[in-house]
Amino acid sequence: MDYVEAVEWLARRAGMDLPDEETEEEKRARIRREKILEVMRLAARFYFDNLRSPNGKAASEYIKKRGLSESTVVEFGMGYSPDFQSLPDYLIKKGYDLSTLKDACLVSDADGRIYDFFGERLIIPIINAKDQVIAFGGRTLEKEKQPKYKNSSNTVVFDKRKTLFGINLIKKLQQQETVSDLILVEGYMDVISLRQAGIKNAVASMGTSLTVEQCKELRKYTNTVYVSYDGDAAGQMATWRSLDLLAAAGLEVRVLTMPEGLDPDDTVRKEGYEGYMRYKSEALPLVDFKLRTLASKYNLLTADGKNKFATAALEILAALDPIARDVYVKEVSRLSGLAPDTIKNSLEDGMNVRAQLPRTAERAEEEPRTEINARLISARYLLSAVFAGKEFVKVTDIKEEHFDYAPHKAIGEYVLRCIAKRERPLIGALYNITDNKEEIEKVINAAASVPADAEREYYQKCIRILEKSGLQKRKAELLEKIRLSTDPEETELYKEELRKLLRR
Ligand code: CTP
Ligand code: MN
Repeated sequence: MDYVEAVEWLARRAGMDLPDEETEEEKRARIRREKILEVMRLAARFYFDNLRSPNGKAASEYIKKRGLSESTVVEFGMGYSPDFQSLPDYLIKKGYDLSTLKDACLVSDADGRIYDFFGERLIIPIINAKDQVIAFGGRTLEKEKQPKYKNSSNTVVFDKRKTLFGINLIKKLQQQETVSDLILVEGYMDVISLRQAGIKNAVASMGTSLTVEQCKELRKYTNTVYVSYDGDAAGQMATWRSLDLLAAAGLEVRVLTMPEGLDPDDTVRKEGYEGYMRYKSEALPLVDFKLRTLASKYNLLTADGKNKFATAALEILAALDPIARDVYVKEVSRLSGLAPDTIKNSLEDGMNVRAQLPRTAERAEEEPRTEINARLISARYLLSAVFAGKEFVKVTDIKEEHFDYAPHKAIGEYVLRCIAKRERPLIGALYNITDNKEEIEKVINAAASVPADAEREYYQKCIRILEKSGLQKRKAELLEKIRLSTDPEETELYKEELRKLLRR
């Protein structure tokens, strides 16, 4: 339940009236949603029953061929749509009007006739954490027919971007046992097949690429996600975006490597529970996975290959926090044969180049997702240490110029105002300073994520990063100003400042 739902639920249980009555409009919307959910459930029941009727013979043979058991079919509520007419006829006879069926994305219409949107397909209901059927996926039984899957479009009860297939079963599982991690797969059939094999903690994104919303949803259920994509997909750099999104949502990410050309469904059917779990136990932490993927793309036996690999690896290292970076510099050194100091120096040069890129207002405004750079993390940690009242924070460490990201800027200004007034900055005040609740939480939590025996050193590193990159940024700004300036006197002033900076 989300916050509002939880309040409503508790109020109802306690027999209390909620202070805010719903408006007429909210009431209409709620009733509409309830109606759609009702018709979705009826449709699911209809498909489910059809699978067992003589009409469903082709589908039950297909299911058998894929090795799915009766109890799996029941557990997922799978069904079958025998043709294009039966479902609309059935629902209209039950009294539902066309607009409801259309709004639920159950039918489409062409030349004055209405058709079952999922006609002649195996039906996979998509069920949310509240056990409501909110959408369907429909698979063809024949290889030739296109598209292989049809999915409900977004409706008032279904938002593809927020939905994970299988989350209802995860919720149930969590009521029975501790679920220490989740497995993220691509396909419906992967979730279904893994579960049948006894691996119950898998969920699937909805076909398209992973969204921020789905990552947040995952985060509600777990800290650790094992990403288990097809053998081919995992090696593709295109999947890195998904992996970065998961990490940016605060998830610990591990990546499974499976045999080429096989998906989790194929793998578990071929190699069984043990086989799949072995791949899982060998899953690599995100950074190791990225470095290994990169390493496999170059010939590390040649000097040229080593250099190219190291250059590409710098990108990955630059995104790490200072402590992790030290560890992985060693790893890149091991793989490339370059000295750790060489890598460290290039890394610093590389970060300077990055800091010199012009920052437009929009770029500073938007949440830097994939570009989690050292500067951002350092600024966040600095603020966090202030609010955690860490005794090693020096007032002079807090400078306006350390903060590029708009929420950090606002918080930084508040802290400086407090310092000027000799007041203690208050966590509670953060919510009045920025609407970005997520960032507020990150700022509040960052200090606690560094172990006590490492925090002083970590803090010092953060300050050094902020100072150094700030200097680079200022230099780049001055160079740009000198380039653009038409007034010789002004130019001289900029040059003077630049000279001073260069002497530092
Ligand atoms: N998908 C889709 N539309 C398609 C193909 C795929 O929506 N035309 C989505 C489905 O959610 C599917 C997922 O992408 O489950 C992964 O696709 P794929 O690997 O092709 O499907 P599988 O789940 O492996 O299905 P099957 O084993 O039945 O081929
Ligand atoms: Mn498959």
